[in-house]
Amino acid sequence: MEIKPIEFRDEKLILIDQRKLPKTEEYFICSDYKDVIYAIKNMVVRGAPAIGVAASYGIALYVLKNDSIKNFENVLKDFSSTRPTAVNLFWAINRMKKKFDEVKDLGIERVREELLKEAEKIYQEDIEINKKIGENGNKLIRDNSNILTHCNAGALATAGYGTALGVIRSAFYSGKKIHVYVDETRPFLQGSRLTAWELMKENIPCTLICDNMAGFLMKQGKIDAVIVGADRIASNGDTANKIGTYTLAVLAKKHNIPFYVAAPYSTFDFNISSGKEIPIEERPKEEVTEMFTKNSAPDGVNVYNPAFDVTDAELITAIITEKEILYPPLK
Ligand code: MRU
Repeated sequence: MEIKPIEFRDEKLILIDQRKLPKTEEYFICSDYKDVIYAIKNMVVRGAPAIGVAASYGIALYVLKNDSIKNFENVLKDFSSTRPTAVNLFWAINRMKKKFDEVKDLGIERVREELLKEAEKIYQEDIEINKKIGENGNKLIRDNSNILTHCNAGALATAGYGTALGVIRSAFYSGKKIHVYVDETRPFLQGSRLTAWELMKENIPCTLICDNMAGFLMKQGKIDAVIVGADRIASNGDTANKIGTYTLAVLAKKHNIPFYVAAPYSTFDFNISSGKEIPIEERPKEEVTEMFTKNSAPDGVNVYNPAFDVTDAELITAIITEKEILYPPLK
């Protein structure tokens, strides 16, 4: 069954509540733009492209639900301050702002119509783009492959189909025999809670491992390729993605295993020359000390919880986009 993580219906944004998966499939209803801001900040919706799509609808909700839209710029600022690393958020906000500037003098009804249309377009385009990424990436996947993935770069992290999981879906549905090793992805467990759930829903063969097992599996010859998504890619190809990605890339290099990043062009930040300029979000210490098991650390322990890391371009075999496959370092 197709996974619909994001749906806009009757002036409401309906999000599958990713905090509740895999145990329950509940929906979080946003009737106001502030609900969308809450949902992004609190990981109801997460994953770079999904955050961008949700923010676009959130901005559309603001103009739909308010008679006066003089706070438009402040609302954009509120969305910009939800999560710092995934550039798709800022890309989507800029696109909505551009549309607003084009139509703002044409009356409120027209503004509403055009902004909702733009959000719908961003949503539809994302699904199409992911399918193209899937097709392009499938060319790199050999039959009978064991693929390792990290975090969730699937339907749940996008408008649908996914980027890294889009490549995996494309390979699977083209008839290739593949099997996926799913890193659990501490501390938020996007791998075990979300990726394993997505793959099992479609009967794509998968096995869950703890993050610290990946090196051992590589040494045993059990991994043929690593595929991950991205939150921001600098002009030279340095790539920010979920914390732990860099470790996998170093391990893959050591074991001569191809390391692929799958991402749309909206994940590139051409304003920065290298990964050093990518802001890394730090998340609450409770994600480490009591996320799913209380008392997993002594009270008062110091915690450092960066949510992302940056993988140097030289460690990346290829970046799979909707247009082409790029081979870093990029010029
Ligand atoms: O903190 P999250 O869950 O939003 O992090 C998500 C990731 O790191 C994904 O791999 C990335 O956004 C790519 S999603 C297609």
